[in-house]
Amino acid sequence: MPYLPLRSLPPRPSQALSTAWIERLADRLAGCTGDVAAERSKVCRETLAELAYPEYAANWETAVEDESVPLGTRLSLAALDPRNVTLEPEYYSDCDDTRFQPVKPLLWLWYSFDRLPIGGQNVDLGVQLRRLLAPYIFKRCGANFKAFQHVEFSFGYNLEVGDDVVVHRHVLLDDRGGIRLGNKVSISDYANIYSHTHSIVEQADVTNALTVLEDGVRVTYHATVLAGVHVNEQGMVGALAVATKDVRPYHVYVGIPAKSVRVKPNAPEPATILRTAENRLARPMPE
Ligand SMILES: CC(C)(COP(=O)(O)OP(=O)(O)OC[C@H]1O[C@@H](n2cnc3c(N)ncnc32)[C@H](O)[C@@H]1OP(=O)(O)O)[C@@H](O)C(=O)NCCC(=O)NCCS
Repeated sequence: MPYLPLRSLPPRPSQALSTAWIERLADRLAGCTGDVAAERSKVCRETLAELAYPEYAANWETAVEDESVPLGTRLSLAALDPRNVTLEPEYYSDCDDTRFQPVKPLLWLWYSFDRLPIGGQNVDLGVQLRRLLAPYIFKRCGANFKAFQHVEFSFGYNLEVGDDVVVHRHVLLDDRGGIRLGNKVSISDYANIYSHTHSIVEQADVTNALTVLEDGVRVTYHATVLAGVHVNEQGMVGALAVATKDVRPYHVYVGIPAKSVRVKPNAPEPATILRTAENRLARPMPE
């Protein structure tokens, strides 16, 4: 296979605007030290109003009450404030409001930005925004975190992220029972990582279980990792696979349920001698 590292692009003509916008938002978030949920809600609302409804940005409060403004416009304006919307995790009995309410405004800003013309497929600004928001949302966030558009979370506050982690577009990180991502983890487009499950008899019988992706793990396109699964160091979950059980270090698992078909050629000896679920020796993956 050809070696194709990512290219560096020259700065955009409006780079200074992007930088100033991110810096102002960073200052505003750092200044939320009192009633954090309320202060962040105001920052979220004012940030979104400038981007989505600039004609109302300066007079948001009066516009929401103004009966001469079309009803749907008033409703849309009101929804810029996260206190006027509900997010799915708020309905969960195990949602810890003392932890969720302070992160809710930042989740709402994250999701809403992705749905605006300035968000969408805007990689550079989107990555910068999410890199700014992530440490305030997650339990822990390492260096160089990179998330593309339309990533979704459950609580957000139950997610631990190591260094150099990349999360591609349309990924679901259900951190209800906790997700721990090691260093250099990569999660590809449309993958799902779960940490809760329901009884097959009683829907309301929920089991939360920490799901762990160790250092160097890759969960590839459209794959799913179920609650409580431990994907060990350098393990790989192939396209469309469903990992229902732990993934061995350096093994490549595919299918539903996911089974080992390969051991990476760079695996240390102990990983190569582990047997696959079919009780045959896994073949080393060719170079
Ligand atoms: C997991 C993956 C890397 C395996 O690639 P590979 O080592 O070249 O494996 P092979 O193509 O030789 O496949 C080995 C066997 O597993 C099967 N297989 C491979 N990928 C599979 C998948 N996703 N689902 C089901 N079966 C799969 C192959 O058909 C083959 O079966 P066989 O031995 O009966 O012929 C690859 O299939 C995959 O899913 N890639 C996802 C794309 C990717 O790399 N994403 C990362 C982006 S960040």
